[in-house]
Amino acid sequence: MIEEKTKVFRPIHYLGSKLRMLDFIEESINEIDSEKGGVCDLFTGSGSVSFHLSKSRPIVSVDIQKYSKVISSAILQKKHLDSQFVNDFLNNCKNSAHSDILFKTVKPLIEYEVFSIQKALDKTCLEGLCEILESGSIIAFQLSNKTKQKNKLNKNIEEVLENLKTNNISEIDSLSIRYFGGIYFSYMQTCQIDSILYQINIAPKEFKNILLAPLLSTISDAVNTVGKQFAQPIRPRNNKGIIKSTLGKATHKDRKIDIFESYRKWLDKYNSLEELKYNNVVYNVDYNDALDKLPKNVTVVYADPPYTRDHYSRFYHVLETISLRDLPKISTMVLKGETKLSRGLYREERHQSPFCIRSQAPKAFENMFQKISSRGLKLVLSYSPYDDTKETHPRVIKMKLLISLAKKYFETVEVKSVGEFTHSKLNNSAKHLDASKTAEVLIVCY
Ligand SMILES: C[S@@+](CC[C@H](N)C(=O)[O-])C[C@H]1O[C@@H](n2cnc3c(N)ncnc32)[C@H](O)[C@@H]1O
Repeated sequence: MIEEKTKVFRPIHYLGSKLRMLDFIEESINEIDSEKGGVCDLFTGSGSVSFHLSKSRPIVSVDIQKYSKVISSAILQKKHLDSQFVNDFLNNCKNSAHSDILFKTVKPLIEYEVFSIQKALDKTCLEGLCEILESGSIIAFQLSNKTKQKNKLNKNIEEVLENLKTNNISEIDSLSIRYFGGIYFSYMQTCQIDSILYQINIAPKEFKNILLAPLLSTISDAVNTVGKQFAQPIRPRNNKGIIKSTLGKATHKDRKIDIFESYRKWLDKYNSLEELKYNNVVYNVDYNDALDKLPKNVTVVYADPPYTRDHYSRFYHVLETISLRDLPKISTMVLKGETKLSRGLYREERHQSPFCIRSQAPKAFENMFQKISSRGLKLVLSYSPYDDTKETHPRVIKMKLLISLAKKYFETVEVKSVGEFTHSKLNNSAKHLDASKTAEVLIVCY
């Protein structure tokens, strides 16, 4: 672990988050801009870098994804909630008539899941839980035109669908129950999520982000996947098709999390963040458009674009849907000639970043360099060279090409490694640096 002097705030579990090198980024920016101008965090993601830098500089946070905007707005344009409001709000989430009817509606599936998890924990029967993970999605059930088996799971799904109709619960008010229940969360947890979403939707507009961001944090903690991203729901079988004997445990550890309780803690954390020093700006736009409208106080751009062909939008699609509160079409794939819903039930229209596409990345970088330099701004660019000892995808652009492109637009282009920084900071006599630490670099351009 790299020692950091400051306490960090991690809103969500995030791939490639810069949490472990916040001081390094801050000091590298300070070295080229001692006047402490504004910083544009051009690919804000989880918001950790923006939040850290906001203690000493005004921030413009930019990301194409709505969930990033929700988190950034909550932490960079913080609105304080008084304790009476928080208590009433939490009470309504848990005890309103709406919440009550949601739980009654989904009860058949909630009970069936609790029973199936217990059977799997006891190792007396794994099939029921396996089926929930493989075919327990209500939206997939609704979209499939195949003849449905008359098994317990399907009967319970049908009963819940009937209840939704009878109880007049709209599609949007049962969004997470129908899209994510059984697959990413327990049915009970999705009732809790939808109860909270309902209250956020009727809350005063100015409080929406500070109420929604803690829900995103809660969901990120509770999601029942490998690695806490939303790309791969748990695979209940091994590659021979046999149900894993550890299924009960793997499922129960996340599904037992009480969303109301976790949300209360997160809400408290957000609400107790220290007061802001500056007026920050949050843009939910493409990097290119953001660079055209940067406020005058910005002097440095910090850029941490994606570097592999993995689009971030796939890893965080659940956060995006919850933030947009829409009813997306689900993407499909063709498997052995048959069109199927994507296993992760991804949104059909997900952002495809040019930075993740080999043929488009060089142009996207060159455009970024050109715009930043033509505005007389300095740039600190994060890069982590490919480590083939890890299970990551190769980078779409090599550092050499990146540097040569940067040199077309900036007089000075320096490469600094986080490993060397930590090494000198700690005055450490250890000779061997962890490869992952030397791998992370900053390319400083001015
Ligand atoms: C590597 S992540 C940033 C991580 C961030 N530094 C952190 O610590 O959480 C890259 C981010 O770039 C965003 N992104 C990708 N293409 C973009 C584009 N064309 N315009 C704006 N944001 C984009 C993604 O949504 C993702 O959040």
